[in-house]
Amino acid sequence: MERSLTLELVRVTEAAALASARWMGLGKKDEADDAATRAMRKEFENVPMEGIVVIGEGEMDEAPMLYIGEKLGQGGAPYVDVAVDPLEGTNIVAKGTWGGITVIAIADRGNLLHAPDMYMEKIAVGPKAVGKVDINAPIIDNLKAVAEANGKDISDLVAIVLDRDRHSRIIQEIREAGARIKLIPDGDVAAAINTCFPDTGVDILFGSGGAPEGVLAAVALKCLGGEIQGKLLPQNEEERARCIQMGIDPDRVLFMEDLVKGDDAIFAATGVTDGELLRGVRFQGTRATTQSVVMRAKTGTIRFVEGNHRLERKPQLVL
Ligand code: FBP
Repeated sequence: MERSLTLELVRVTEAAALASARWMGLGKKDEADDAATRAMRKEFENVPMEGIVVIGEGEMDEAPMLYIGEKLGQGGAPYVDVAVDPLEGTNIVAKGTWGGITVIAIADRGNLLHAPDMYMEKIAVGPKAVGKVDINAPIIDNLKAVAEANGKDISDLVAIVLDRDRHSRIIQEIREAGARIKLIPDGDVAAAINTCFPDTGVDILFGSGGAPEGVLAAVALKCLGGEIQGKLLPQNEEERARCIQMGIDPDRVLFMEDLVKGDDAIFAATGVTDGELLRGVRFQGTRATTQSVVMRAKTGTIRFVEGNHRLERKPQLVL
């Protein structure tokens, strides 16, 4: 893959963030998502690649844009798989709360897991704890392993968990182990990424979220040298059959190499609302600022990109 694609992808996540940020706090999550999706789709037209959406807004018959199987880009090499979440945290933006981002991940064709749209149990850690955790092990064992790897006491650790009733057992076990917890309303892609940035104070992610978000997080963690393990959680026989039909054994642990193969991949995200890692979009008159992160697995380079946009000169971004 061309390294110049990194900046091209930032343009795409920036466009989606600028469009959806206008919906911040308006209580309209679908409109915020739709604005991000349309802006992202349009900006992809300028990217020199031939991408195929493997994780997107849904199947062709249920999503008008960025649907699974859609071709993206100007065409020609590089030929890549594309995973998108035009707005990760639709409720976050609808309420104007913490950590809404726009997200893209790409890898060479055939290298991203075509994850079905269902829940996935996840465990994610930063570089120091790679190889030390096991999604099938008790919570206490994983906390002990991360404490040792990160050079902390268990009581100093912070586990990040989506605030959901289904996580009550996990939360109870973390509390019994003596670790601290950060419960978040939404956004487990950013939560997984935070485990790789010590400044966020987060050591480990536990719990279930979307399987597509698991693949996006895996690309980011591959670039950052972290680790995520996942297990699909089909909710009924139909979902179970879909896993098997898609060639994924639902009882098997999905490791990094299952989620994203090969040695190269790129991940880009732009903040829509303020979060631990990225500042949200600021508007002032015809100006807007964005903050993005873009990273590449092959080189391990992580760039934070500040965008200062003249909206009057970018009519396509004023949606
Ligand atoms: P959306 O942006 O699609 O609303 O997803 C937000 C999110 O919190 C994800 O980060 C997470 O993987 C998933 O929803 C969890 O699903 P649920 O809200 O059903 O628990």
